[in-house]
Amino acid sequence: MTGAFYDGLAGTYDLMFPDWDASMARQASQLAEFVPAGARVLDCACGIGTQAIGLAMRGYEVVGADLSPKAAVRAVVEASARGVALRALSSDMRALPFADGSFDVVLAADNALPHLLTSDDVLAALREMRRVLRPGGRLVISTRDYDAIRRDRPLSTPPSVGPGRVVWFQLWHWDNDQYELEMFQLHEADSWRVVVGKARYWAITRHELTELAERAGLRHVEWSLHAYCQPLMVATNG
Ligand SMILES: C[S@@+](CC[C@H](N)C(=O)[O-])C[C@H]1O[C@@H](n2cnc3c(N)ncnc32)[C@H](O)[C@@H]1O
Repeated sequence: MTGAFYDGLAGTYDLMFPDWDASMARQASQLAEFVPAGARVLDCACGIGTQAIGLAMRGYEVVGADLSPKAAVRAVVEASARGVALRALSSDMRALPFADGSFDVVLAADNALPHLLTSDDVLAALREMRRVLRPGGRLVISTRDYDAIRRDRPLSTPPSVGPGRVVWFQLWHWDNDQYELEMFQLHEADSWRVVVGKARYWAITRHELTELAERAGLRHVEWSLHAYCQPLMVATNG
């Protein structure tokens, strides 16, 4: 379900941002505070490349991976259009096709990890991210602010408007600590054309994610609430 949802979004994902290039540059500059100069980075949920391309443009050596083959292909194309090399492939973060200790930093940004719906699956992903990190390497994960969201249990996101007057909003259907989202894209054609996709999230709190990260063997787990556009968890391998 998740891979198909993002395959369906791969062609228009950039239209969620008023200016995708500006967002890539801003996010990369914020993430650079947590990614040492010269680091070899794996973005294990790269999507169409919002963080991977921005970091590559700042000179990092970046490899991308994503559950959605179409998103990974688009990330490579968009990187090349901007004059940077990005290798990206399709893979599940619970089974990464890389040797132990291959990366200095592993990144999963913009709420990718909470697509995994059980503690076992999140733990499997965190263990796999740790496995491909070198000793002392750094894990960087961003999620929505689910501590606040679990209190408020919102039923929708406010509409936003992207280039070409594409209107985006989500409806959220809660089921205990999970919700199914319906993502609406309204495209202005002769009349409005509506595209709807569905995906599911676990609204995992910072405490729950911290505990799982520690169980996965990660150390020095810390959260930065205002350094990035979402709360950011940074942890060390050993
Ligand atoms: C909200 S998007 C963010 C993508 C990208 N980081 C960005 O900001 O443009 C979440 C991404 O997580 C990926 N994803 C979800 N579950 C995954 C899994 N088990 N393994 C790898 N990627 C996954 C999706 O395919 C999607 O591209």
